[in-house]
Amino acid sequence: MRLTNYFIPTLKENPIDATVVSHQLMVRAGMIRQTASGIYSWLPLGLKVLRKVENIIKQEMDKAGALEILMPTIQPAELWIESGRYDAYGKEMLRIKDRHDRDILYGPTHEEVVTDIFRKNISSYKDLPKNLYQIHWKFRDEIRPRFGLMRGREFLMKDSYSFDIDENSARQTYNLMYETYFKIFLRMGLKPIALRADTGAIGGDLSHEFHILADVGESAIYYDKKLDEIYSAQFSNQTNSENLQNSNSKSDFFAQLKPNFLHEINFDFKALQSIYAMADELHVAEKCPLAPENLVSRRGIEVGQVFNFGLKYSKALEASVMGQNGEKIYPNMGSYGIGVSRVVAGAIEANHDDKGIVWPKPIAPFDAILINIRVGDEKCDAMCDNLYKILAQKGVDILYDDTKNTLGQKLAIADLIGIPTQIIVGPKSLENGQLEIKDRRTGAKSEVSLAEILR
Ligand SMILES: Nc1ncnc2c1ncn2[C@@H]1O[C@H](COP(=O)(O)OP(=O)(O)O)[C@@H](O)[C@H]1O
Ligand SMILES: [Mg+2]
Repeated sequence: MRLTNYFIPTLKENPIDATVVSHQLMVRAGMIRQTASGIYSWLPLGLKVLRKVENIIKQEMDKAGALEILMPTIQPAELWIESGRYDAYGKEMLRIKDRHDRDILYGPTHEEVVTDIFRKNISSYKDLPKNLYQIHWKFRDEIRPRFGLMRGREFLMKDSYSFDIDENSARQTYNLMYETYFKIFLRMGLKPIALRADTGAIGGDLSHEFHILADVGESAIYYDKKLDEIYSAQFSNQTNSENLQNSNSKSDFFAQLKPNFLHEINFDFKALQSIYAMADELHVAEKCPLAPENLVSRRGIEVGQVFNFGLKYSKALEASVMGQNGEKIYPNMGSYGIGVSRVVAGAIEANHDDKGIVWPKPIAPFDAILINIRVGDEKCDAMCDNLYKILAQKGVDILYDDTKNTLGQKLAIADLIGIPTQIIVGPKSLENGQLEIKDRRTGAKSEVSLAEILR
């Protein structure tokens, strides 16, 4: 993409209403704009990241055997009256009347709708288990929308709902989703922590919250310090392979610009899953098995939650199947949410410096930014145009800064929008036949032979 054809309305100053870094940087980097309180529009750069996050989620959900569906955002009140939640849900639910004076609502969650689909279309034990998911907008009329996308009113959620024949099978589905969530967040280059959690308004007895660490996180969390050791070992891999210092061969150069997926680099799930981690309330209520010197207390952002709630909705909505001997069986249900738009903000909270965003490669809006520091110079332009073409052919997604901005402006924007690799081309490169490569995360600079790449 040529920057002159693109739309990244960057800002120098932080917007006054933005109090957390992710909100400030997303607005300054031209990723989002507020349309109303807690309601945002996504501009091209932001949408690209959102889609990458969605894609990773979809791929892993599909691998786990879940089936993608799409339910309406607008729901009839009747379903919620049937489940008993219409009054209970309170003011966070946006209640609407249609022209016939019928009560409808903008869905804050979809247990009722999916259970209604199930009861009308699935009637035999043979059709179980089923796990249905969607990625769609939710509306919750938060009393205090804040922190930009972290606590919005309209937000994008991946929500899935499982139906199993019995508790045992439901437990297996729960465990599969639990592992899938680890994979999803690790693939994004994030460091998830699973906390045993309260089941709250959804009901049921088994739940985990997935958090990523950030100082602005709304929850205090406690965990075994072994977790930090696991992550520092695994993520040092990432930093090494992100470093282009030793990429003297042509194929290395192209390969290293593309995202790498941590969990495919032999991630130790078993060790991760056995880590003791708890939210504040539970940690206080229960006896902590860890010695104080092994306990770490930090703040976390909840990016996902998994629940098993048993028969709560299947019973309330009379969603049953016929068993092997003709008996009536209520499926055991679970639901699994990921705050997709919140993940984008959370990833920034966990990955930034004083110059701007530092995207983990797998969710970066572009793989690399090609900076032509002498636009208008015939040789520089020709070189950059050529390079841009070759990189695109190699499947590297490139943002090409072909603007007439000053070098200072170009470098500031590149740092602000946080694309992992900066390829800097100017008259000096032409002179000595070297490209300058800068790693956004480490700041490490290296040189790559131009002739080699163009050959
Ligand atoms: N107001 C919000 N803005 C952005 N994301 C949200 C919001 N509320 C919930 N989410 C995201 O959706 C996920 C699933 O929602 P859920 O667990 O039902 O919400 P909550 O924890 O607020 O009850 C949460 O883990 C969180 O990441
Ligand atoms: Mg939750």
